[in-house]
Amino acid sequence: MAMSSYPVARGLILGIETSCDETAVAVVKDGAIALSSIIRSQQVHAEFGGVVPELAGREHERRILHVVKQAISKAGLDMHRPNIEAIAVTIGPGLAGALMVGVAAAKGLSLAWGVPLVGVNHLEGHLFAVRLEQDPISYPAVMLLVSGGHTMLVLVQKPGRYRVVGQSLDDAAGEAFDKVARFLGLSYPGGPEIEREAEFGDPASVRFPRPLRDGSLDFSFSGLKTAVVTYAKRHPEAEVADLAASFQEAVVDVLTEKTLNAAKDFGVKCIALAGGVGANTRLRAVLTKKANDLDIAACIPSRLNCTDNGAMIAAAGAWRLENFGPSDRSIAAMPSLRLEESI
Ligand code: KG4
Ligand code: ZN
Repeated sequence: MAMSSYPVARGLILGIETSCDETAVAVVKDGAIALSSIIRSQQVHAEFGGVVPELAGREHERRILHVVKQAISKAGLDMHRPNIEAIAVTIGPGLAGALMVGVAAAKGLSLAWGVPLVGVNHLEGHLFAVRLEQDPISYPAVMLLVSGGHTMLVLVQKPGRYRVVGQSLDDAAGEAFDKVARFLGLSYPGGPEIEREAEFGDPASVRFPRPLRDGSLDFSFSGLKTAVVTYAKRHPEAEVADLAASFQEAVVDVLTEKTLNAAKDFGVKCIALAGGVGANTRLRAVLTKKANDLDIAACIPSRLNCTDNGAMIAAAGAWRLENFGPSDRSIAAMPSLRLEESI
């Protein structure tokens, strides 16, 4: 490993995230304080109703260095001698062509600046987003990780020790939001659109199914999605707002009930929320209320820290660097990386 040719500020980590359709870079201090966090969402996918992998890779390629420069300068650092300790980069899971852009950029910068690289699992990054907030999380904790690609209940004994105790058997929660939104004629990403529509609708107008309510900690959203589509086709007079509110309520019911069940099953006094769907206002409110009722602490990060960002990657990278040291510069994108796999 090449040593830095100039002194580095211990505790300053640059985090790069390009696993899907956000080009995101941040500078984080002491694994917890974001000095800058730049997030550029790609608009090119909106007309396709979902992320087009080839376009995502190309867009990341066009923007990545600019976003790095913005993050460095917003943190008050110099692009030529940024004085950082290491570069953390998402290596998976995600879209191969998208991940490769971030990994290649991180390697180039690591060589140019003479600082080590740390490969980060995107899912572990989401779990570390909670640590970017004021309240420190207490372990063991049950984390609900709900994103566009994953829906998981994770028992975290301590950072780095993860056990997936429940997960979706078909669509991820975010994917269900995106698909239902598309069917209802709303744009991509569908989650925020459904949430906006739901504000004007009645969540009790249609009682959609709450799948797998049998004590299991697994999820299934594909049947619920089909139920919305079938209902809308049979009732063309139904208001989009009512359908959105009723669908959202069903998803929130299932996610919150199973999270609290997992906390009870494992005798855990702390639950946490992570991932893009965690930005949903109704989910945040119901999860907090149900946890409070059971005297369980709820760690709910700000909306910005739920959706993909570079700060969560830097936070996870800081922890990995401290506990396992840097990664080899030969690290490569791993599109199917799992949470339990150590890097
Ligand atoms: O974690 P994330 O930013 O990217 C992935 O790793 O997938 O999650 C993106 C997902 C998308 O499916 C998006 O529709 C959903 O999170 N999402 C929401 C909200 N904001 C984003 N779902 C429901 N309500 C929201 N407010
Ligand atoms: Zn994500």
